[in-house]
Amino acid sequence: MAKVSVSLLSADFTRMVEDAKRMMECGTDWLHCDVMDGSFVPNITFGPQMIRDLRKNLGPDAFLDVHLMIEKPERYVEEFAAAGASLICVHQEATVHLQRTLQAIRNCGVKAGVALNPATSEMTLEYVYDVADLVLCMTVNPGFGGQKMLPIVAKKVRKIDKRRKELGLSFDIEVDGGVSTENAKMFRDAGTTVLVSGNSVFKAPDVALAIRGIRGE
Ligand code: DX5
Ligand code: ZN
Repeated sequence: MAKVSVSLLSADFTRMVEDAKRMMECGTDWLHCDVMDGSFVPNITFGPQMIRDLRKNLGPDAFLDVHLMIEKPERYVEEFAAAGASLICVHQEATVHLQRTLQAIRNCGVKAGVALNPATSEMTLEYVYDVADLVLCMTVNPGFGGQKMLPIVAKKVRKIDKRRKELGLSFDIEVDGGVSTENAKMFRDAGTTVLVSGNSVFKAPDVALAIRGIRGE
């Protein structure tokens, strides 16, 4: 069964803990935390302090899926790990020494993820598969919630899934951007194991039902 990682980008930032708790009560598997620096992406959100406070208030069982949309993320890996991230995902486009950065995340005892923008080829992953616990395929250009999903990315997910099987590996494949109950099946069928959803879940009249629908229950 696929997992759902509800994006806190759609939460009320003045009530982050309450919204995160509500999403956990409604059955989300992971909490997706979008860190934006105003440079790699046009938007600015929050930094390690938010992760520290979420960890403090949510306890050890919450899975904090931290998506770094920042330039040179290697500068902040240790700080986000110490703050309580469960997984740290960096963009291939934002770090020059990708293999080193992924290894540095693992060295902190945290799961390592690599994210690809919609226009970035999966070929770039060939030499880092052995140090990745998760591959994140962006289904929108990163920066904002509530954008329209790009269906062509399902093709990339299928290629990565095929390579995962050929290599006998078990890393997660996550999609992020515009995911809803209506389009989640297409990505699950392509091999996605974690589906990020922000707007569609937060705006749903029945949040628990939306989460179950995206998960494919
Ligand atoms: C976009 C973020 C996403 C976003 C997804 O740059 O990385 O995680 O919050 O939100 P929705 O589901 O609203 O597209
Ligand atoms: Zn994200």
